[in-house]
Amino acid sequence: MKSASVVKLGVNIDHIATLRQARQSLEPDLVAAAAVCRQGGADMIVCHLRQDRRHIQDADLFNLCAAKGRIHLELSAVPEMVAVALKAKPASACLVPESPREVSTQGGLNLRTQAKAVGRAVGKLKKAHIATSLFIDPEAANVRLAKSLGVDMVELCTSAYAQAEEKGRRAAELERLELAGYLVAEMGMTLHAGHALDYRNVRPIARIPHMAALNIGFAVVSRAMFVGLKTAVLEMKLLLS
Ligand code: PXP
Repeated sequence: MKSASVVKLGVNIDHIATLRQARQSLEPDLVAAAAVCRQGGADMIVCHLRQDRRHIQDADLFNLCAAKGRIHLELSAVPEMVAVALKAKPASACLVPESPREVSTQGGLNLRTQAKAVGRAVGKLKKAHIATSLFIDPEAANVRLAKSLGVDMVELCTSAYAQAEEKGRRAAELERLELAGYLVAEMGMTLHAGHALDYRNVRPIARIPHMAALNIGFAVVSRAMFVGLKTAVLEMKLLLS
């Protein structure tokens, strides 16, 4: 079993851009924010370039990719967004479902209905040497479909676990994640997880066997309001070890 101490932290900085966009300003500067996250122990910087450009802008992605450190991009599998990714060349990219009025990503990809579009996007990203991931709900069928599409990594959606208020429900959701995680590892893909993780619910997820990285945004940026960004990242990082 892999030790939990090696679980990496991807810090999603979308909501630092949300704050900047509230005033259509230059502050807070995202490249500077990314550097502070790294000082706090972030292993990679995550951002989601949405089709509606509600927070991260194309220029942010280009600036982040040109600066130091590993950038993990979240994007929809539509040709417009894949074309931007191919130009920016982040180290890795995760294809996610996207719908216009959602507040945040709502669950994983439906690989049964979207296999063609996702497969095309994966092919283009891989050709450009961008490591690819798919955001999926923790079910064996999704893991098998992800494998058949040739991705390097899978990010299991933790929303159902995070939102489960009742203890038994939460334990059942954790077990679903563990089982899917075993299959991801068995099929030779790297295991990531994320969405709605926070300082209270993250530890059991970090202890899932084979977990390589967790991608966390809202909780860290919210905490940063009180303790500063570097400390907020550091506190989360400590919970992963
Ligand atoms: N993983 C994926 C695929 C996401 O879409 C998001 C939200 O952008 C996250 C992780 C981070 O979620 P949260 O902001 O709730 O930590």
